[in-house]
Amino acid sequence: MELFDVYPLYDITPVKGEGVFVYEADGTKYLDLYGGHAVISIGHAHPSYVKAISEQVAKLGFYSNSIKNPMQQELADKLQKASKLEDYALFLCNSGAEANENALKLASFHTGKSKIIYFEKAFHGRTSGVVAVTDNESIKAPFNKDHNVVRLAFDDTEALENELKKGDTAAVIFEVIQGVGGLGEATSEFYKKASQACEKYGAVLIADEVQSGYGRTGDFFAFQKHGIRPGIISIAKGMGNGFPIGGILIDKSIEAKSGMLGTTFGGNHLACAAGIAVLDVLMEENLMNNAKELELIFKEKAAAIPEIVQVKGRGLMLGLEFDFEVAQLRKDLLFKHKVFTGAASNKKLLRILPPLNIKKEHINLFFDALKAELKRSKETI
Ligand SMILES: Cc1ncc(COP(=O)(O)O)c(C=O)c1O
Repeated sequence: MELFDVYPLYDITPVKGEGVFVYEADGTKYLDLYGGHAVISIGHAHPSYVKAISEQVAKLGFYSNSIKNPMQQELADKLQKASKLEDYALFLCNSGAEANENALKLASFHTGKSKIIYFEKAFHGRTSGVVAVTDNESIKAPFNKDHNVVRLAFDDTEALENELKKGDTAAVIFEVIQGVGGLGEATSEFYKKASQACEKYGAVLIADEVQSGYGRTGDFFAFQKHGIRPGIISIAKGMGNGFPIGGILIDKSIEAKSGMLGTTFGGNHLACAAGIAVLDVLMEENLMNNAKELELIFKEKAAAIPEIVQVKGRGLMLGLEFDFEVAQLRKDLLFKHKVFTGAASNKKLLRILPPLNIKKEHINLFFDALKAELKRSKETI
């Protein structure tokens, strides 16, 4: 049977990962500044993570959500401690799209309304509800197009207030820092006003922290810098360091009813073991602090490169904006210098999303490769 051909593939086959590096079978070593779409948070094959998952799978890998699983509560307690958020409840699922899908559904249950407001350049996933609030028409099938959704410009407080005033909105969903949309972040004033307007008109504010959460920006959640309290927060990518796990944090004002949400695999024993190990390592190794420190080093080094017009993002969720389109540069970094980086819808942006335990020496490796490549491409013009 052939694989359904939906992914453009690089001719690279990693078979092993360690820290910030991945390796092919012949030993070719790649510096991973992309973490497989911002997923690798505590580094590839972290020993504590490997031990936790190995020991758990040898005991009990899975049982359904019809039995007690104390590991879910342990994960929720550790999440509360790491994020310093009070009065949220946790619902566990398996991916970012599923987290957002549950967030939208819950907001709709809670408010009894169906309209969802989303923003230009947003990406929230590919399942039916969330692809409808993703700003990319090419990935919406006719089946996905009948949802009651409204797209607004990011950072336009007046437009948002006018839409919310109509009183029929269940939720406003936003990425605090946009991922594939190009690292855009609205002002604290916008987030605060959005939060107040949601409260006033009875809509739920949903912060999609699937990519920006879990310490990636140096704060546990990116929204924490803006002094707001979302009604629902969705999480996934960094949460399992590659093990599929997602979830939503739900404000205590939203009441649970038996059977209102559910999943077979969500919150299973193995996923919890992965999630707990990630939080333990994140806290023990002070990785949020590392993200903040390395952001400064990154920005300082980037400032010395004239082709970089600006650095967008925070912590280790960064975008280097060049004065030219970067598709070829990305390829050259990957194939000639063995460095993984990411792309964005802004074709001049190189995305940097490394494991949070990356060190200065690795950043130096990247800038050496970048400078060499920029020099080489100038010489060949
Ligand atoms: C901000 C954001 N939300 C949601 C998703 C969807 O997550 P998943 O691919 O796990 O369904 C992504 C994935 O890239 C994302 O970046």
